[in-house]
Amino acid sequence: MAAALKIDSFNLMDDGECDARIVAAKKILGSRLKILGHHYQRNEVFQHADFTGDSLKLSQLAATTDAEFIVFCGVHFMAEVADIVTNGERTVILPDLAAGCSMADMANLVKVRKCWAELSEILNPDECVTPVTYINSAADLKAFCGQHGGIVCTSSNARAVLEWSFSRRGKVLFFPDQHLGRNTAYKMGIGLDEMAVWDFTRPLGGNTPEQLRRAKMILWKGFCSVHQMFQPAHIDAFRARVPGGKVISHPENAFEVCNKSDFVGSTEYILRTVRAAHPGEHFLIGTELNLVNRLADEMKDKQVTVEFMSPTVCMCSTMFRTDPQHLAWTLDNLVAGHTVNRIRVPMEVAKPARAALDLMLEVVD
Ligand code: 13P
Ligand code: SF4
Repeated sequence: MAAALKIDSFNLMDDGECDARIVAAKKILGSRLKILGHHYQRNEVFQHADFTGDSLKLSQLAATTDAEFIVFCGVHFMAEVADIVTNGERTVILPDLAAGCSMADMANLVKVRKCWAELSEILNPDECVTPVTYINSAADLKAFCGQHGGIVCTSSNARAVLEWSFSRRGKVLFFPDQHLGRNTAYKMGIGLDEMAVWDFTRPLGGNTPEQLRRAKMILWKGFCSVHQMFQPAHIDAFRARVPGGKVISHPENAFEVCNKSDFVGSTEYILRTVRAAHPGEHFLIGTELNLVNRLADEMKDKQVTVEFMSPTVCMCSTMFRTDPQHLAWTLDNLVAGHTVNRIRVPMEVAKPARAALDLMLEVVD
């Protein structure tokens, strides 16, 4: 068999040539292939997806597809989830291995274990703390949760997951996104004075033992560099300019931004809400630019106006790494009988991670 095709020659092709190759390869691979596309993907890639969705929907789709190849146009943790929920029985491919998530990288197993050990000096975390990891995290952190009575959540089921967690143990250690944790817990009636932030660069996360004993939510000090660009002042300016306009935020936005918003929810929730709008309605949306631009185009014909929350261009640079060149390269290799960029989670990690993911899927059902 000829050697695997190299990415270099694909990088020299223009988007049009890559498009033609992607369409041709999809035809040849037929039902053996499913391309999953997250809402933050750029149009040139998104248009080729067989299924699109937020993190939750895509993980559920991955779990049910019987396709041999799943090409995941998203970021690394999403492809890991697809490999875990399919028990490694499908070939999951991430077109560009550099497509990571900077927020997911803000927590790692060493730091989380250190946190757990430090908590153990003050309380018995395995009895009184449920570790909850946002799906935007490495597989070994999901495994950590699986091994310590914890669970995974996404931005669309965080509340249900926290309710489940608090019904079992009195405290939650939530990582890596402090904002999703804080915004969700606050809506459930947990006060800001009942939350502690865990700064992983400092002993005891920068807290006193008393603060940790009192806290119901311990929030890892992680954040999304894209969503932190949205500011309360953007909302104030919009409300002054567009009386009656509606504001929607992703729950990764800061507390002050979510508090000033009319609606808060996942990417799928944002799409559903705006698509149900009536002519003449006007929305300001605080989430990634590719989704907002696509939605603005889609809603134009229905006379619904959609604006991006920040005056500066901010998109997820790692989502943007997946381009038509990498997609064409992975598909042409599959046609030629080669698998490039397969994502595999080792069994000893996948098993406990799967337990935490399965719990999440049970809780939301
Ligand atoms: P969703 O779960 O809403 O798709 O969000 C994923 C993500 O990475 C948001 O930054
Ligand atoms: Fe990660 Fe933020 Fe990009 Fe989502 S938008 S993938 S949280 S860096």
